Amino acid sequence: MLTRRALVTRGAVAGAASVFFLWPRPAEAEAETAKPVLARTKDIRVGGGKIVKGKYVITRPKKNVFRCFSAKCTHQGCTVASVSGGTINCPCHGSKYDIRTGAVVRGPAPRALPRKKIKVSGGRIRLA
Ligand code: FES
Repeated sequence: MLTRRALVTRGAVAGAASVFFLWPRPAEAEAETAKPVLARTKDIRVGGGKIVKGKYVITRPKKNVFRCFSAKCTHQGCTVASVSGGTINCPCHGSKYDIRTGAVVRGPAPRALPRKKIKVSGGRIRLA
């Protein structure tokens, strides 16, 4: 025969076990919510950058500073093609943007590249 105490104890143990097994573990929860990796930090040299999927440009102005901008030139919409000499460069009409801010360094682009928020963690760069 079960005593009231035994029933309460078994109920508590069963409840705790079900919470343990059903609750997402931190790594699983992160994997479910994490956005795709755009790039790895080791693949972007200091002072350089990388065009990702023709949609984003990720730059690294300093060792621990990463920036992300739209890769669509604000002049006529070409995709920027390279990052060199401290600028993000559009091949169509020669516009150049600052790798730190996305600001126009040389036209004809009328305005800065829109900045995208990113999250850098564990050597991986993702959109925030
Ligand atoms: S589209 Fe980039 S400079 Fe014209």
